[in-house]
Amino acid sequence: MNVLILGSGGREHAFAWKISQSPLCSSLFIAPGNAGTSELGENLDIRVSDFESIRTAVLKYKIDFLLVGPEEPLVKGIRDFFESDPDLRNIPLLGPGSAGALLEGSKDFAKAFMQRHSIPTASYKTFNRGDYESATAYLDEIPAPYVLKADGLAAGKGVLICATRDEAKTELGKMMLESRFGNATNKVVIEAFLDGIELSVFVLTDGNTYMLLPEAKDYKRVYDEDQGLNTGGMGAVSPVPFADPSFMKKVEERIVIPTVNGLKKDKIPYCGFVFIGLMNVAGDPYVIEYNVRMGDPETEVVLPRIKSDLLELLSSCAQKKLSRANLEVDERCALTVMLVSEGYPGDYSKGREIKIQEKLNDSLVFHAGTKKNQSGMTVSDGGRVIAVTSLASGIEEAREKTYQSISHIYFDGMHYRKDVGLDLLKDYAAKK
Ligand code: AMP
Ligand code: GLY
Repeated sequence: MNVLILGSGGREHAFAWKISQSPLCSSLFIAPGNAGTSELGENLDIRVSDFESIRTAVLKYKIDFLLVGPEEPLVKGIRDFFESDPDLRNIPLLGPGSAGALLEGSKDFAKAFMQRHSIPTASYKTFNRGDYESATAYLDEIPAPYVLKADGLAAGKGVLICATRDEAKTELGKMMLESRFGNATNKVVIEAFLDGIELSVFVLTDGNTYMLLPEAKDYKRVYDEDQGLNTGGMGAVSPVPFADPSFMKKVEERIVIPTVNGLKKDKIPYCGFVFIGLMNVAGDPYVIEYNVRMGDPETEVVLPRIKSDLLELLSSCAQKKLSRANLEVDERCALTVMLVSEGYPGDYSKGREIKIQEKLNDSLVFHAGTKKNQSGMTVSDGGRVIAVTSLASGIEEAREKTYQSISHIYFDGMHYRKDVGLDLLKDYAAKK
């Protein structure tokens, strides 16, 4: 099979790493990819939302399977574009059409979907841009803290948690009156705050059958002990001790099955990943958000735990034959730590030379924001630069291996969290 992966992050490097191991993979292309993916296949200099150039490449390289990494092309309708083109229509593509991608593309749509299908989530109200007065009146009715969400995609920055009512009103004013986040705030969702521990659950579905992939916990804040700004994710662990069979049974019965069935009832064909970000509130799962793609850096711990042929699995799903596929999971723990550029998630510099010594135990090094410069040197090219993943018998062992490997990687201004996985160890200890 000739495979094209769209995207350029650590998630896409992890996909490329796993797919390139499949005997079914003849040629691998990544658009636009990064320095890491260029070692596994051919990078194509095409932006993920440039559908015409993607079309040209798909036909030129006789692509048999297209995997869409990030949400943007899905929300912009890459599947709809393929399905309406006679030359592309029959090429298996993994990712929902624009109707299904609204689960991520519109918070208001996702909340209404959950309400319609009785899927547990925080109570909420949606306000149109002109409704600032009623939105502030709603804030007066509900207790702190306040969760404000831009309806549309806002590069992961559209959720604000405000400790006080005054702060919430100020932020709401920026969103609704000053168009902060542009069109994404044509509508704003205000919802109740959920107090608990987060979990990322990954569902692969062809619209009929579904399969649960290994779950993960993401570390979102930039500094240790969950301090500082929210990022795309600074590290991840899989499996997650509190996601035990009884909790996962609740997740499956109350959330996963109603979601897959809800899509069917609403006549929304869906073929791809559903990433459910949920909160464990005193043992009960509530959906915080849906994403229509895999998580990053969660993919960097989920894929190393999958023993099955990933290309076979994903292409079966894309051909609506998921019921024939099987999933074999490595019981070991995978832990990843993201090395980021100083200043991220704010401003940061690019082009810093990355030095990786040979001695990395058997850790996996997934490139996120990297590229080769004109002299062929690997340099930083984003806020999140490299994810280092290790597999080991437990969290403690995986932490040791990963941090040991990180000591052999260097770039100017490199920052990373030192506490990935630690809270889960404490959780373990508290239970004992
Ligand atoms: P998102 O950008 O949608 O991933 O949301 C960013 C983060 O905001 C989530 O990962 C949660 O930590 C937090 N969050 C979102 N909604 C809620 C909520 N209702 N209660 C508590 N935290 C929330
Ligand atoms: N790590 C969270 C995300 O991919 O959205």
